[in-house]
Amino acid sequence: MTNKYMYFVANWKMFGDLRTLNSLDSIIKFSNANKKNKLKIVYCPPNTLIRPLSKRLKKTKLEVGAQNCHENENYGAFTGSVNAGMLKNVGAKYIILGHSENRQSGETDKLINLKIKSAIKSGLKIIFCIGETLVEKKNKKTNQVLAKQINNGLKSIKNKSNIILAYEPVWSIGTGLIPKSNDLLKSVSFIKNRFGKKPPKILYGGSVNSNNVAQLKDIDIIDGFLIGGASQSSKKFIDIIKKTFN
Ligand code: 13P
Repeated sequence: MTNKYMYFVANWKMFGDLRTLNSLDSIIKFSNANKKNKLKIVYCPPNTLIRPLSKRLKKTKLEVGAQNCHENENYGAFTGSVNAGMLKNVGAKYIILGHSENRQSGETDKLINLKIKSAIKSGLKIIFCIGETLVEKKNKKTNQVLAKQINNGLKSIKNKSNIILAYEPVWSIGTGLIPKSNDLLKSVSFIKNRFGKKPPKILYGGSVNSNNVAQLKDIDIIDGFLIGGASQSSKKFIDIIKKTFN
């Protein structure tokens, strides 16, 4: 039985439309009925759904986040982009930044650092994703990669109180593979230790499902999960939460 505060963050990626929101009735019911467990549920849908979702979740304990933003905190001529303030304005409280799917399409540590700074200024809580690729893991570069991503991504950010880390090994995302418990413990400890006396919350992400979450939650320095595929089904998402607190 896990007795601590746990985060369950749903990253819907580029999935979902207005009809999808109807499927959330069961999770709302579950959350309303769940008085004993300390949990924070955050849904990060595509930008198109932030406003309708935040309206729907208004009188619930569930919160809404975004998945990325432009680095410029002001308005500007950036076709197709939105900034952190605009996302906050339509109901986002959190934002995922540094996701490997965006790193793979060209986002650098430097750009992520600018995005984090602009999101902090806008008052969003940041879920900052880091993680090694399979090649980096095989070459025993995991710690080196994590250190670099943390140092560069959080460069010259003094107040880190609104930052949550998400350790997402790239090779684990969408593959059904999760790290061996011992490796995961080592990586999360490594991340935590880099922050000295005031470590941030650290989530794990990558193929989390209701079958493997029992193993993952046993690593008690993990503060929750960032969930992709399985978060698109309320039933699967609720199962994950239930098994975490079992
Ligand atoms: P999956 O849970 O589908 O592996 O995705 C993880 C992820 O990328 C969450 O940000």
